[in-house]
Amino acid sequence: RPVTLIGVPTDVGAARLGAAMGPDALRVAQLGPALERLGLEVEDLGNLHGPPNPRGERTAEGLRNLAECEAWNRSTHDAVFAQLQAGRLPVMLGGDHNLAIGSISAVARHCRDTGKRLRVLWLDAHSDSNTPEISPSGNVHGVPVASLCGLGPPALAALGGPGPALRGAQMCQIGLRSVDAAEKRMIHELGLEVYDMRAIDELGMREVMRRALAGLEDDDGAHLHLSFDVDFLDPEIAPGTGTTVRGGPNYREAQLCVEMIADTGRLASLDIVELNPALDIRNQTAELVVDLVESLFGKSTLVRAPAPAGRR
Ligand code: ARG
Ligand code: MN
Ligand code: MN
Ligand code: MN
Repeated sequence: RPVTLIGVPTDVGAARLGAAMGPDALRVAQLGPALERLGLEVEDLGNLHGPPNPRGERTAEGLRNLAECEAWNRSTHDAVFAQLQAGRLPVMLGGDHNLAIGSISAVARHCRDTGKRLRVLWLDAHSDSNTPEISPSGNVHGVPVASLCGLGPPALAALGGPGPALRGAQMCQIGLRSVDAAEKRMIHELGLEVYDMRAIDELGMREVMRRALAGLEDDDGAHLHLSFDVDFLDPEIAPGTGTTVRGGPNYREAQLCVEMIADTGRLASLDIVELNPALDIRNQTAELVVDLVESLFGKSTLVRAPAPAGRR
C-alpha cells in the first residue's frame, strides 16, 4: 500500500534537545527515494507543527512539558488517523518517543473502526512504561506505553477517545536493557510481552522474532504497528540518539529482526523515533535507519520463496 511520510519534529518529551531535527536527517539520508526504489508510492507530507521545548520542570501531574506533549500528540493522532482512513501506510519521522501516544492511539482507533486486530511491536532499549507517579525523570518519552494502556493524565491517555487505546497483551517489546525499578513491576501489571537483551542472547534474534510474530502471517485481519526507537540498536552502530544503552542488537541482528517483520506482510504503520542528529556522527545513524527501513519494506538480497497463500 502507498506510504505517507509525516515529520514530527518534537523533542518536548525528551531529556535532551535535538530529536526535533530527526525528520530532516532522515530526509537527508534519502528515506523517501529508498522506498521508491522498492516500487512503493511515497508521499512526504512535510512536518507537523507544534510548540517548541520550554524545558519545563515537573508539574503537579508529575510530567515535564505536558501541555506541549499533548499538542504534538493531538496533531500526530489526527494526521495518522487521516492517512489510515485514506488506505495509506503512515511513517512517522520523529521526534522523541512521546509521539507514539498520538500515533498508536490513532492506529488503535482505526483498528476498532475497521475490526482489525492490532499488534504493536516496540523495539527499544527502554520499556517506556513509567506512569507519572513512578517516573524518575518526569520526561514524557518514558511514559507512552502506560498512557496507551490507560494510565496517566487524560490529556495523554484519552487522546483517541475514552477508554484505553491498548491492552498490554497487544504489545510486544524487544531489546530492553534499561528499565527503572518500579517500571519493572509495571511491565508485569500491564501484561506486556517482553524479550529483553538476555532473551535475545539466550534464544537468538530468530527465535525471539518467531515468537513475537507468531500467528501474524496467517491473519489477514491483523494490523502490525512498529514503534522503532533508534536506541534499540547498539550505540556502537547508532550513536545518534539521546539515551544510548550499551549492549544492544548488532547490525546483523537488527537486519534479521526487520526482515522477519517484512516477511509477515502485515506492517501497516511505523514510528521512527529518538534519532538525534546533534549527537550523530555525519548522519551515520540516520543512514543506518534508512538501510534497516528498506529491509523492513521488503528489500532482500535474494529472491525469497513465494509467500504461502493467505499471506500478503
Ligand atoms: N526510563 C527513563 C525515563 O523514564 C528513560 C526513558 C527513555 N525513553 C526513550 N524513549 N528514549 O526517563
Ligand atoms: Mn488498516
Ligand atoms: Mn529508548
Ligand atoms: Mn523509547
